[in-house]
Amino acid sequence: MGRYSKSKELHDRACGSIAGGVNSHLRAHQVPHPLFFCRAAGARVWDADGNEFLDYTLSQGPMILGHSPPAVVDRVSAAMRQGQLFAAQHEAEVTLAEKLCDSIPCAELVRLSLSGSEANHVALRLARAVTGRPLFLRFEGHYHGWLDDLAVSVSPTPDQHGPRENPARVAWSAGQRASALEDCVVLPWNDLDLVRRMLERRADDIAAIITEPVMCNRGCVPPEPGFLEGLRKLCDQYGALLIFDEIITGFRLARGGAQEFYGVTPDLATVGKAMANGFPISALTGRRKAMELLARGMVMHGGTGNANIMSVAAALATLEEIEKGGREFYRRLFARGQHLMDGLRAAAKSAGLSVLVQGPGPMFHMGFTPLRRVVDYRGTLRYDRAKYNRFCAAMLDRGVWLIGRGFWYVSAAHTDQDIEQTVAAAAEALKKL
Ligand SMILES: Cc1ncc(COP(=O)(O)O)c(C=O)c1O
Repeated sequence: MGRYSKSKELHDRACGSIAGGVNSHLRAHQVPHPLFFCRAAGARVWDADGNEFLDYTLSQGPMILGHSPPAVVDRVSAAMRQGQLFAAQHEAEVTLAEKLCDSIPCAELVRLSLSGSEANHVALRLARAVTGRPLFLRFEGHYHGWLDDLAVSVSPTPDQHGPRENPARVAWSAGQRASALEDCVVLPWNDLDLVRRMLERRADDIAAIITEPVMCNRGCVPPEPGFLEGLRKLCDQYGALLIFDEIITGFRLARGGAQEFYGVTPDLATVGKAMANGFPISALTGRRKAMELLARGMVMHGGTGNANIMSVAAALATLEEIEKGGREFYRRLFARGQHLMDGLRAAAKSAGLSVLVQGPGPMFHMGFTPLRRVVDYRGTLRYDRAKYNRFCAAMLDRGVWLIGRGFWYVSAAHTDQDIEQTVAAAAEALKKL
């Protein structure tokens, strides 16, 4: 019996009834095959074979408090006994909206949805309606969700991506609407000059710039000094809306997200993931002037499951835990992340491997490359992904579960001891590479 044999058996069975054996394509690439899990608590998860892992995937980000925190689980259990979904109003959703307006700088009004993709979808619809312009400007390598409008130039290969100054618009999926490509312009991240030139030429067409404030999904690339501020100024100058996709950075870098952390306030921002510690919810938040179009019903947004009792209760419990932690909550999250990043760098150095670890701390990226810095998507193509896959497999065998593309999340449940254990496992795994 192999270490992951029960998972393998279940995966083979799953392939008989679930397309590809997974219900999100992003789960398909786990090495050696998708794993099945039975239980999760704090910073740990247990798979179907009984293996215990320290978890740095945080379920692709949501579990900022760690798994199964009593404050969230108890609150949801109590709330759902009174009802699960009214598809009508209840007081807790108002309390949650007030909390979002209180903590997120751009939030004067909000609308709740279930996923990040939906929140971004409505953000773009709103931006087009507010400005009367058809296009939006997005950045190569940024992930804003899987829907047609959003999934353009997410991970183009070198033979697809075209010249750096004028990247090709590349569909993410077969069957994607061709007009989705025509509805956007794509530029490299962190090059303000190219953004300026594009707006000078096409201001009358561009409704919005949508950006992750940190290019989380590819390389966890921070904004260059002045880049976000520059986008803000250009949007003001040319009458486009600035949209921050804070699905990852929201509640992770600060209570007010990246906009608080970097001191740049967008017109609209979307949050999700960490907002409810694993329950499905997202929010579009924004300036009243833009959000009024939703308020007046000119821009349509719907969803049967929006503001369901469980997700709202989970969000309230999560945000209250973060509030209770105060400044100390983020100080510790950043410190743990920094500790881990430093440990990984040191382990790679002593193994004689060229590794780049970059990011703010609560999330970061690790990859094998001789580069000292990566500033845009094309830089991330210089990472040796095959080697990272081997590293992930070696870490899995040592009880550490990682996201295959090099992204690490740290939760409030990770302890200094967990970090030491992880760095020790990494030192062994890196030496083996
Ligand atoms: C930055 C960003 N935006 C949007 C999304 C889409 O969110 P969802 O998977 O909830 O649709 C993701 C998901 O990973 C994301 O990382």
